[in-house]
Parts: sequence; C-alpha cells; structure tokens
Amino acid sequence: MRKPLIAGNWKMNGSLELLETMKQALTSAQVSSSVEVAIIPPFTLLMSAGRTLSDSAIRLGAQTLHPEPSGAFTGEVSASMLTECGVSHVLAGHSERRTLFGEDDQAVLARVTAALDAGMTPILCVGETLEEREADRVETVVLGQVKTVIDALSASQRSRLVIAYEPVWAIGTGRTATPEQAQQVHAMIRSWLSDKDPALGEGMRLLYGGSMKADNAAELLSQPDIDGGLIGGASLKPDDFIAICHAAG
Ligand code: G3P
Repeated sequence: MRKPLIAGNWKMNGSLELLETMKQALTSAQVSSSVEVAIIPPFTLLMSAGRTLSDSAIRLGAQTLHPEPSGAFTGEVSASMLTECGVSHVLAGHSERRTLFGEDDQAVLARVTAALDAGMTPILCVGETLEEREADRVETVVLGQVKTVIDALSASQRSRLVIAYEPVWAIGTGRTATPEQAQQVHAMIRSWLSDKDPALGEGMRLLYGGSMKADNAAELLSQPDIDGGLIGGASLKPDDFIAICHAAG
C-alpha cells in the first residue's frame, strides 16, 4: 500500500508568519496519520522551518539543490546545507527549473543523485508542455524524463524516489488535467516502471501537480495511480491545503 503524500511547493512565496500559521493550522486540523504531509518553502525559511516543525510529523522539503557538495557556486545551496536544516525531501527538475534555469535531464539526474547520497527523498518532477501534448508527444517526453533518472540509479536508490507528474500547461493556470488525463499518464509511468521491475512499479508513489485545489483534489486522489499531490498556489492557503490533505486520507 502506497502512503499518500501531499507536498506544498511554496515557490518564491511565504514568510515566517505563514510558516507559523500553517504549522498551527495543520496541527489543529489533525490530518490523518495515514497521509504524509510536507511543506516546501523557499531556502530562506528552511532553518526556521526545521526548528518550527521539529516537534511535528510535518516533513520539510526544499525546492531544489546544487549537485556539488560545496564550492564557488554563488547563490546555490548544497545537499548537506539542506539536511542541516532538517530537510527530508527535495524537488528535482520542477518544470520552472527546467524552463527558467535551463536544467536538462542530466542536470536533474545529478540533483537526484546528490539528494539520495545525502539521505533525502528526491521528488522527480516530470511533465509535458501544451505544445508537446498537442503534438501527441506526452509518452515520449514524460517517459524520457523518467527513464533518464531511473536507468541511472540502483534498485535501492530507485526505491527511495518519488515522482511527480506535473503537466506544464496545468501549473499555475487553473486549468487542471482531468482525473482521466492525469490517471492515464500515471498509469503509463507505472506500467513502464513495472515492466522494468514489478516491485518498483508497485511501490513508486506518483504525485499529481498542476492546479490541484480543494474542490478537485478528492476526484484526482481517488484515481488508482495517483498517490498524492504536489501543490502550488493552494499550499499557501491553510484552509485549502488542509482540505487537500484531508481528501488524501
Ligand atoms: O510544484 C507544484 C506546482 O508546480 C503546481 O502549482 O499552483 O498549479 O498548484 P499550482
């Protein structure tokens, strides 16, 4: 049985005040222990978040990392700096990193490997653009992104990965993939993983991201191959994020 994971990607938003508000709201909401919840704030909040969340079951995530352990990489943050803050999960290859900061599949693989080496859980983000979907290239693009990482990892490393399918055209647009569209791609990813290793396909948590909201979460999360959500805008609103967490339970 795959434990649902609801992760809130704050992107370049949030504050110490929101961090405290969100922790109190999540604690009061008594989200089912059958649901794993993670908050993924900007780097500047990680050390405080690690301390604030240390007495709760809420996981702390980071939005990216640099693959090198240290060095002359102005503005970057290493895996050990994240773990020092109490970070347990880290996004790799979010579409905004791929499109705005030029991270290609090899750069994403390097970040996944660095996260694994530091003992963190990488959340590998994959997804197609609207142009790629309209050109009927969803399978080629998404499985290509998955394959680049999976083929380079050991069986043990693969078992520690989480994959988030985020159709780029649904991110921040309010245009959510239909449950059928999302399920179809999740099933395709799981089938590919299972063909490689039945245990890998069965155990891999596949999150959906892209305008998941309080009013559509239950239907998305009821799909057999959707094991949680990677939430953007709605993760900044305590009531909405909690509603999504409850929908996963
Ligand atoms: O990483 C999650 C994010 O890309 C989804 O954003 O605002 O569409 O929920 P949003």
